[in-house]
Amino acid sequence: MEISRYYTPTRVVFGKNALSELGGELKKENAKKVLVHFGGQSAKKSGLLDKVLSILDENGISHVELGGVKPNPRLSLVREGIALGKKEGIDFIIALGGGSVIDSSKAIGYGLKYEKDVWDFYSGKAKPEGAVGVGAILTIAAAGSEMSDSSVITNDESGWLKRGCNSDVCRCHFAIMDPEYTYTLPPYQSACGTVDIIMHTLERFFHSGDGISLTDNIATAMIKSVIESGRKVMEDPDDYEARANLMWASSISHNGLMQVGNDNRGDWTCHQMEHELSGMFDIAHGAGLAIVFPAWARYIYKDHVERFAKLGNLVFSYEGNDEATALKTIETFESIFHSLGMPVHLKDAGIELDEKKMEELLDKLTNNNTRTLGVFHNLKRDDMRKVYEIAR
Ligand code: NZQ
Ligand code: ZN
Repeated sequence: MEISRYYTPTRVVFGKNALSELGGELKKENAKKVLVHFGGQSAKKSGLLDKVLSILDENGISHVELGGVKPNPRLSLVREGIALGKKEGIDFIIALGGGSVIDSSKAIGYGLKYEKDVWDFYSGKAKPEGAVGVGAILTIAAAGSEMSDSSVITNDESGWLKRGCNSDVCRCHFAIMDPEYTYTLPPYQSACGTVDIIMHTLERFFHSGDGISLTDNIATAMIKSVIESGRKVMEDPDDYEARANLMWASSISHNGLMQVGNDNRGDWTCHQMEHELSGMFDIAHGAGLAIVFPAWARYIYKDHVERFAKLGNLVFSYEGNDEATALKTIETFESIFHSLGMPVHLKDAGIELDEKKMEELLDKLTNNNTRTLGVFHNLKRDDMRKVYEIAR
């Protein structure tokens, strides 16, 4: 069995009115000049941005603002943030938003402690050794970036490559999570988030180690709860308990808990295949995952009948450990994603993957034929093509 390391340094403040603790959290950081980073409109519209700025003023902490983070956050804005941060002498960053804002903040944090090109960390050319600290105020339950070691950035300056950088250095110092902030989410974003949370758990459920039953049981109980809560928020966006379930699940599905005792990692092929899609077609990450997972699972399940059937046993109480149970499990996930309003084929998302685009996608995905994907089931370029073909 591989050794697992579980490291979650993020201080979590969870529940109604969690924002009241922002001042105290910033004092612990000894923050003197803060960059407040946010997205398009939602933080302004909800009044949250104003509340955050008032708290900073009340605590005598000076601040500068940088909005405009787009979903699938762009390198060009990260560069702007680094330049602004250097000019202003920023010593802490508040990420007010979801995965995109938090990831952009993490990238700015890296860049403020690095003299060369921040993309080096995303292209694999260098490993980050330091970063200006980030504290998240979470407004969407989805990516789990508030507790993860990851940041994913899209290079809009050359090639639209979407790449991640994993390092403990970027983990948020604190995360303020008030489920009420997610009431204003459009249903599509709530559904994308629900799928992403499920997928962060599934990527780790499909691992290459021996595994332990406790982690399987926690993982599958969580998936059940996330499916139920995802359905509830579609009916009633102001269902506090369901929103709270999703928000906490977003964090613990991606903070490493779901990989303890297995190979300490998981497969991650679906995420890699999705990142290439959202880099190229700019679709929402959760929607891309709802398309890729059923296709990937259908392509490989016959080699892993027991594992897929076990998933069905634990999540849906299906009996049996045969091929039919495994397939029924995959079909059920697909129909749940569909019922949440997610696309489950590329064409549902308006993506036409012709041969030219397919080749381009595969070149990017394989780094020009220099990498394969997956530890649970290793895929080569031709296998990846077949998965995308099923997804069409
Ligand atoms: O820009 P605004 O106006 O704020 O609107 C956002 C955005 O359009 C909106 N939104 C967020 N909170 C809201 C709200 N609208 C109304 N009310 C609220 N309370 O939701 C939209 C999506 O936001 P985004 O931050 O993009 O969502 P998400 O958290 O799903 O993040 C997606 C990004 O995270 C990456 C994805 O690839 C994608 O780029 N991921 C990051 C990971 C990590 N760092 O650990 C892991 C994931 O696997 C994922 O790859
Ligand atoms: Zn994800």
